[in-house]
Amino acid sequence: MERDLEKVKQRLEELRREIEYHNYRYYVLDDPEISDERYDALMRELLKLESQYPSLVTPDSPSQRVGGRPREGFATVRHRVPMLSLSNAFGEEELRDFDRRVRTLLGGEKVEYVAELKIDGLAVSLRYENGLLVTGATRGDGETGEDITANLKTVRAVPLRLRREVPLLEVRGEAYMPKEAFLRLNEAREEAGEPLFANPRNAAAGSLRQLDPAVTASRQLSFFAYGIGESEGFAARTHAETLTALRELGIPVNRHWQLLPHIEEVIAYCRHWQEKRHELPYAIDGIVVKVNSLEQQARLGATMKSPRWAIAYKFPAEQARTRVKEIILRVGRTGVLTPTAILEPVRLAGTTVTKATLHNEDFIREKDIRIGDTVIVQKAGDIIPEVVAVDVKSRTGRETPFVMPRHCPACGAEAVRPPGEAATRCTNIACPARLREGLIHFASRNAMDIAGLGQAVVGQLVAAGLVKDPADLYYLRFDQLVGLERLGPKSAQNLLAAIEKSKSNPLHRLIFALGIRHVGERAARILAAHFGSLERLSRATYEELVALPEIGPKIAASVTGFFAQEENRRVLDKLVAAGVNTREVQEEEKEKPLAGKVFVLTGTLERFTRKEAEEIIVRLGGRVSSSVSRHTDYVVVGANPGSKYEKALSLGVPIIREDEFIKLIGQ
Ligand code: IVH
Repeated sequence: MERDLEKVKQRLEELRREIEYHNYRYYVLDDPEISDERYDALMRELLKLESQYPSLVTPDSPSQRVGGRPREGFATVRHRVPMLSLSNAFGEEELRDFDRRVRTLLGGEKVEYVAELKIDGLAVSLRYENGLLVTGATRGDGETGEDITANLKTVRAVPLRLRREVPLLEVRGEAYMPKEAFLRLNEAREEAGEPLFANPRNAAAGSLRQLDPAVTASRQLSFFAYGIGESEGFAARTHAETLTALRELGIPVNRHWQLLPHIEEVIAYCRHWQEKRHELPYAIDGIVVKVNSLEQQARLGATMKSPRWAIAYKFPAEQARTRVKEIILRVGRTGVLTPTAILEPVRLAGTTVTKATLHNEDFIREKDIRIGDTVIVQKAGDIIPEVVAVDVKSRTGRETPFVMPRHCPACGAEAVRPPGEAATRCTNIACPARLREGLIHFASRNAMDIAGLGQAVVGQLVAAGLVKDPADLYYLRFDQLVGLERLGPKSAQNLLAAIEKSKSNPLHRLIFALGIRHVGERAARILAAHFGSLERLSRATYEELVALPEIGPKIAASVTGFFAQEENRRVLDKLVAAGVNTREVQEEEKEKPLAGKVFVLTGTLERFTRKEAEEIIVRLGGRVSSSVSRHTDYVVVGANPGSKYEKALSLGVPIIREDEFIKLIGQ
C-alpha cells in the first residue's frame, strides 16, 4: 500500500513536469513537441489520478488551473513596487523629443533602447516565491490591485513553477486574448444574446475579473512578460538581460523585442510594426521604448505616474472612406434582425472590409446612415469594422433612409419590436433562418462541439428538409448525408461519428446548446451543477431558479418559459430517446456510489468535521448544497441541527442520522 502510494506520487510528479514542459515548449518557445490530443491525454491522466488521490494534489499542479471555487469579490493586493503606466508619444517627432530628454538628463551619455510590442491586454503581476506562483494580481490603480490568482492560474501561458528556484520574483506583463479567441467569444456572445466585448482588451479584463475561474479557463487567454517588480536573487544589469533571464525561467516573453542603439532605428522599428501589426495573431496598439541600462533607468527615475526611461509610441487608428451599397438584415437564432451595411470593398488595417454591423434600428437613426452614403469606417479594437461617421457633405440627394421592415426577410412572418427594446424580432419559431442559426450554435465548439457541422452543411440539411430541430441531427443516416453536395463518404462518416460523440457531453453543454435566451455558458453551468439532470431542470419553478446565485429574474423567466413550450418539450423528448446524455455527471463518475446525489449537512457530526464529510461526499460522486430544496436527496442531521432540519421535515426530504450516513458511504 505504502509502495503503491509512492508510485502514484512519482507518476503524478512525472505528469506534472511533463505537462509544464509542454506548456513551456508551446507558450515560451512557440515550438510544441506533441499534438494537442497527446497533451489532452496527459492532462486527463493527471486529473484522473488526482481525483483518486485528492491528498496528493499540490498547489502548483497544472490541474489547479481549472479548479478553484467561486469567491465573494476579490481581495486586494498591495504592489510594494508601484505598477506605473507609460506616457505616450504620438508621432515620430515626439519619439525624438523623448530621446533628447533622456540624453540631456543623463548628461549626454550614450543611450541604448529596447523596443517592444505594446500588447493590447491587461497589466498583471505574478508573484513567485521560491519558484512557486503564489499571487496573481491586476494593476488596479498602480498601488493596489485585485487578487486574481485563481483566474491567472487557468492561463496556460502562466507558469505555476519557474524552471529554476528564485527566492522572490514578481513578474509583470500583459494578459491578453488572441484575435481568434476574441472573435469566437464575441460570436458566441452574440448568439446567446449577451453583450459583446468592444475589443480584446475589454474581453481579457472581463475574463480575468470573473468570480468563477472556470469561466476564465474557457476564454483562452495568454500572457507575455515585459518586466519585473520586487525581486530577490534575480540579477540583471540591463532590460535586455531581464527579458532573456525571464525567458530562461520559463516565462513567455514576446520574441519581437529588439535592442537598438539609436532613436532612428527605434523609429524604423515603429514604422515596421505599424505596417505589419495586422499579421500578428494578437492585437497591439503601439510600441514601448525603454532605456536598456538599469543603472541609467534608476538615475532617470519616475514622475508620479510614469517612468522617465520609457515611452509608449501609439499607432494612429486607421480609418477608411467607403460607400454603403446596401443595408441587409441577418436573422439570428433568437429571431433578432440585425442590420448590416454592405460596403464598397476597401482596404483597412490589413484586411479588405466589405461589411460592417449596424447593430440595430436606433444605431442607424442616431448616426443617420443612409443607403448610398459615404461613410468613415474604423476597426473597433483593431478587429471589428464599424461605421464611425457619415460624410454628410458628399450626399447627392439620392441616398435613401433605411426602414426596418415589418416582416422577416427570411420567412415573411411578422417582425416586431417590443417596447423598451432595441431589437426587432421575427415571431415565427419555425423560421428557417432561425433554425439554421440555432443549429450552428447547437453544434458550436462551446456547445455540443460537433466538428464538421458548419454553415454550409447546416444550410444543406435544412434546405433538404432533413433537419427541422436539433434533435433530428441524432437521427441522420449515412445514406441521407452522402447525397448532399460536397459531402463525400469520408466526411459523412466523420460527421456521424462527431454527432455520436456529442451524445455523451455533460449536461451544461446541452443546456447552453439549446439556446435558451439569456442562458450563456456560465448560467448553463450553474443550472447543470444545481439540478444535475435535464429532467429536474425542466421541472424547476421560477422561485427555485431565482433563488440560485447569479440567476436573475430574466434568466429564470426565460428558462421556465422555454420548458413550458410544448414544441421544446417534444424536441427534448426526442433528444432523450436518441440517447443524448442529460445528466451533469460524467461517465466515470456515474460508477461512483453517490453519483448525482445532493446532500445537505446540518448540526454537529461526531466522527467527521463538516469539511471531512463534504470531502467524502464529493469524492464518492455526490454534491453538497447549503440549502434544502425539493431536489435534495439527503439531509444529514447531527447534534443541534439548524433550521435546515425543519425545512427538510416540511418538504418531506429524506433525513438521515450520522450512523445511517456512515452506512451509506460504506465506512
Ligand atoms: S512597460 C513602467 N511594456 O501598456 C513600465 N507595458 O500604457 C510599465 N503594455 O500598463 C509598462 N505591452 O499594461 C510595458 N511591452 C510592454 C507592454 C506594456 C503592453 C501595457 C501595460 C501598461 C500599459 C501602459
